[in-house]
Amino acid sequence: MNRYVFLVLILGLVYLACEKDEPREDPLVTRGRELFNDTRLSRSNDQSCATCHPGGHMDHRRWHFPAIHGTTDGVPDSFRTLTLWGISETGPPYLWDVSRRDLHAVTRLYVDTIMGGTASDEDIEALVAYQNSLTFPVNPWRNADGSLTPAQQRGKIVYETNGLCSPCHPAPTGTTTKPKNIGTGFLVKTPGLRSLFSSGPYFHDGRFKTLREVVDFYVADPSGMLHASGFVINLSEQEKNDLIEYLRTF
Ligand code: HEC
Ligand code: HEC
Repeated sequence: MNRYVFLVLILGLVYLACEKDEPREDPLVTRGRELFNDTRLSRSNDQSCATCHPGGHMDHRRWHFPAIHGTTDGVPDSFRTLTLWGISETGPPYLWDVSRRDLHAVTRLYVDTIMGGTASDEDIEALVAYQNSLTFPVNPWRNADGSLTPAQQRGKIVYETNGLCSPCHPAPTGTTTKPKNIGTGFLVKTPGLRSLFSSGPYFHDGRFKTLREVVDFYVADPSGMLHASGFVINLSEQEKNDLIEYLRTF
């Protein structure tokens, strides 16, 4: 056999093998991604889901949505955007006030009341398929092989023992279905902790800029609500530092 023909044959076989390893994306997900980034879903053609959820993640901002939460006393003025990464693992319930259990309904709510555009039932189906396809990115804080550094391992132990974090934020996502008031003035979803390294500002109203402030809040317990429900969290400086190292690896 001519060696060029042989080479072409081998390249062809390699191509076929690669094709097999990379299954084509579900066309519904592809359509959903297009819609997610399409400003035609908003009435004034200036906003898409991706405006506030770039790449399916979040814009690190707070938004005021009276159409969703109402304006009754006790309801916070604004809520920080939630990430949609890993939503097939973290939800339902959805939204900070855990008021919705159906991703179709949440998606419809955003199109109809926040963005003011129009979407067919097929569009909503595609948007839901896209959201459910979103996974968590590789965590850059871990060792290259995904394992934990010694400080992160020590932090994991703090998280699971005298940090008292695990009961409310169970691994692997850190979220639970029951809303809680931990003295932040509102009964809220216990948010997932995956990809904490790229989220924030933290809490439903974005009151804390850093994980250090979050950990200090748990130890100080300014409202006394955590203490009252048995969560007395005492940590040394070393334990706090290790815990923060671990939180970044979620
Ligand atoms: C103007 C900004 C903005 C736009 C546009 C927007 N979102 Fe959001 N999204 C938010 C904020 C803020 C939250 C948290 C609000 C809350 O929980 O009360 C949120 C929460 C969500 C949640 C709940 C996530 C969870 O884990 O509970 C879903 C799902 C969602 N958005 C999907 C979408 C989809 C789909 C679109 C487009 C149709 C969209 N969003 C458009 C800001 C926005
Ligand atoms: C009693 C239950 C409870 C305990 C104990 C608890 N958390 Fe939380 N955590 C919550 C709730 C509820 C929120 C949301 C509060 C809010 O937004 O107002 C939250 C929010 C957070 C956030 C912010 C996430 C985000 O996306 O904004 C971080 C980080 C966090 N907790 C870490 C911890 C760590 C670390 C510990 C242990 C030291 C801990 N939590 C212990 C219930 C708990």
